[in-house]
Amino acid sequence: MESIDSHRVPAHVAVIMDGNGRWAKARGLERSAGHVAGVDAVRRVVEAASKAGVRYLTLYAFSTENWNRPQDEVDALMHLIAYALERETPGLIENGVRLNMIGDVDRIPAASLESLRSSIRATAGGEGLQLNLALSYSARWEITRAANILASRVNGGEINAGDITDADVSACMTTAGMPDPDLLIRTGGDKRISNFLLWQLAYSELYFTSTLWPDFDAECFYRAIMEYQSRERRFGKTSEQIQSSSNT
Ligand code: IPE
Ligand code: IPE
Ligand code: MG
Repeated sequence: MESIDSHRVPAHVAVIMDGNGRWAKARGLERSAGHVAGVDAVRRVVEAASKAGVRYLTLYAFSTENWNRPQDEVDALMHLIAYALERETPGLIENGVRLNMIGDVDRIPAASLESLRSSIRATAGGEGLQLNLALSYSARWEITRAANILASRVNGGEINAGDITDADVSACMTTAGMPDPDLLIRTGGDKRISNFLLWQLAYSELYFTSTLWPDFDAECFYRAIMEYQSRERRFGKTSEQIQSSSNT
């Protein structure tokens, strides 16, 4: 952590936590054992992000498309999420972490949803890191939902279709009010977005690592932040413009 510049810590880090199944397979274990080991990596990264002063951490835990996995894996994952939340909530409270969930709650089994809601309530007073768990989430689901919300406002005469702005669309996203991710990390070696935060990632720095999620630790996280800090974010401008504004 000493190697990172504390003045340029990303405010929002998003993570595609991939590689649990391969981690388990390499050890001759069931895929679900990889998910269990993945929970330990979540704890390590939440702690590392809190310590570094990251304000928002969004973890992709279960995608809309993951509902198409074998039913026993889906059941095991939903069970694990409920179990892990119950076990980890005291630690989250202690560290001032505020839990939030983004995704389609209607598809989450009642018992898991209850654990989530109770953990969200219990951590509501946290003043440190906001942890967004993306569960039953996909960006196309979210963008379609935003289109529905805006269309019904137009129908209801609240707004004119022609007046819809970029900010209005952002306000209909599940991340309304949060800064867009500065940094996206994907573990597990694949270089794709897999339907995650398509709207919000417009100008995020992308960091891909072949490390499998259960092996990811604080050092790996800080290495990603160091790489992020070595990049020049231009947002469409020229390097000269960026340098002259950072000098003033
Ligand atoms: C990521 O690990 C966790 C979830 C998608 C729930 P995977 O289960 O996708 O692991 P691999 O990619 O098969 O190794
Ligand atoms: C992305 O991983 C979703 C999560 C990490 C929750 P996947 O393993 O589902 O992604 P693909 O199928 O390899 O694109
Ligand atoms: Mg995967």
